[in-house]
Amino acid sequence: MCGIVGYIGEREAYPVILEGLKRLEYRGYDSAGIALYDGQDIKLSKTKGKVADLEKRVSSEIDASGTVGIGHTRWATHGVPNDVNSHPHYSNSGNLVIIHNGIIENYESLKQELIKRGYTFTSDTDTEVLINLIEDVKKNENVKLGKAVQIALNQVVGAYAIAVFDKNKPNEIVVAKLGSPLAIGIGDDEFFIASDATPFLEYTKKAIYLEDEEMAIVRRKKGVKIRKIKNDSLVAPYVQELQMNLEQIVKGGYEHFMLKEIHEQPNAIKDTYRGRLRAKEGIIKMSGIDDNIEKFLNTNRIIVIACGTSWHAGLVAEYIFEDLARIPVEVEYASEFRYRNPIITENDVVIAISQSGETADTLAAIKLAKSKGAFVFGVCNVVGSSIARETHAGAYTHAGPEIGVASTKAFTTQITVLTLIALKLAKEKGSISNSNFHLHLQELELIPGKVEQALKSDAHIKQVAETYKDAKNCLYLGRGFNFPVALEGALKLKEISYIHAEGYPAAEMKHGPIALIDEQMPVFVIATKKGHYEKVVSNIQEIKSRKGKIIGIVTEGDVDVKNLADHTIEVPETLEVLTPLLTTIPLQLLSYHIAVLLNKNVDQPRNLAKSVTVE
Ligand code: G6P
Repeated sequence: MCGIVGYIGEREAYPVILEGLKRLEYRGYDSAGIALYDGQDIKLSKTKGKVADLEKRVSSEIDASGTVGIGHTRWATHGVPNDVNSHPHYSNSGNLVIIHNGIIENYESLKQELIKRGYTFTSDTDTEVLINLIEDVKKNENVKLGKAVQIALNQVVGAYAIAVFDKNKPNEIVVAKLGSPLAIGIGDDEFFIASDATPFLEYTKKAIYLEDEEMAIVRRKKGVKIRKIKNDSLVAPYVQELQMNLEQIVKGGYEHFMLKEIHEQPNAIKDTYRGRLRAKEGIIKMSGIDDNIEKFLNTNRIIVIACGTSWHAGLVAEYIFEDLARIPVEVEYASEFRYRNPIITENDVVIAISQSGETADTLAAIKLAKSKGAFVFGVCNVVGSSIARETHAGAYTHAGPEIGVASTKAFTTQITVLTLIALKLAKEKGSISNSNFHLHLQELELIPGKVEQALKSDAHIKQVAETYKDAKNCLYLGRGFNFPVALEGALKLKEISYIHAEGYPAAEMKHGPIALIDEQMPVFVIATKKGHYEKVVSNIQEIKSRKGKIIGIVTEGDVDVKNLADHTIEVPETLEVLTPLLTTIPLQLLSYHIAVLLNKNVDQPRNLAKSVTVE
């Protein structure tokens, strides 16, 4: 992700940029940095960690004066999060400095070319390659900065939002965009650059959003000149009047954080596998696993500990790990595990799953497992959280901040990480054939697009929600990989609408819950084509003959369930192990719409908290 901020005008740039970086920290918090120009020289300060760490470093490292500057908060892609890989990056001469959000895919070949021409590199980043390419073009072609940026970008494959500053042309910042967002705030004789409008909302309501393949030269006092990167044609700036207040912008225009977060899932999943999943090459790279591969390969079992939605992700993982990697998995509520004198040995691998990384029961269970000698691996969303620190190793879910109390994107990104781990171990163990491994990688890469597709049923789901909003009880059924999704669907409904709901494995109906079925009872059944489809259809028939109302979550083009159900909601087809990533989506939207129709506080449901730091 990464957040970028820039300022050129009359005021001190540092406070504007610093505050802007804090607002963009949701985009990444691996490291932060700033470059300011005080009329004589560039002053640069950067550090691994958060913007608060940068603030401390700046105060002891540089004199933060100057009316032009750029700043960055990083979500690491190329190169581990450390001080050196932090942005901004200098060119070899020290004259140019850059911040970048995105990935330069052909950076390696460009780098080799530049090395042949005598350039040296201090970081592992693609960004340092880009700034030296710009410098090289500028020198060889004897052109100004804007032209050099344009020529260089025409050699680049990838995605970027960049801001570049030249200390010999201190009255301008050159920006460009392809694939990553970039907004320019237009003030009175001052200009702001940012990944979104939040950093400059209190200074101006006028903004230009650059389109893909556009670049702009932002000149002190003179204004903004936009050009097409490819053909150099001038573009008339379209200045928008920002209508929103700060809070709305943080919600990204959505009515609730939960809805925003549901819709963020295609990108959140992509961000989570980015840099890890290389489908074309057939590679999964996860340093936390790579560095500890022997522990995973030699263990007799994996114990998953978690709470709430994270526990449901753990249950999905049990099915995935056992199916693909053939490693036995036990899934435990952290609160039970920590108090029941569990049998843990030095051979055990424990995976702790937590969005917040702060859940007290999970933290205590981790400490217990460690005290018995187990190797503990964390799957957390919040970088630097207590659980991330307490575990021996881990893998972050790069879902970005989740603010809605009912967890949504954390769940699907946890499943994404756990699927990557299972596939990696399956490959290492040889429990998956090469062709099947490749097939899974390719299909996983298609999931964000398929989630996007599933989200398109929103209007239809709202109508279904209207029909069932007054139910007093609901049942959720699923089998196999989708049994935990049924549990999660029921939890979502309970949490935000306060309707009683239970999830069951579909075949368990006949052992009790079927007694509850009457014409008042909506039953949400996950009945995708892959995964015991015929058996689920039989379960649906059993409910139907007792007059229950059936809402089927089905595969696109389904016929059998459609003939039986009162309503169906379609999701795209995928491999069976990956179906939870799609079937979850309509259940999230259903709960959301029911809660909104019932006028409940969706983002802050009663009695609940996002991060449960008490036991
Ligand atoms: C709370 C939240 C849930 C979350 C659970 C576990 O109950 O409301 O959404 O699933 O804690 O939280 P964690 O941060 O450990 O995933």
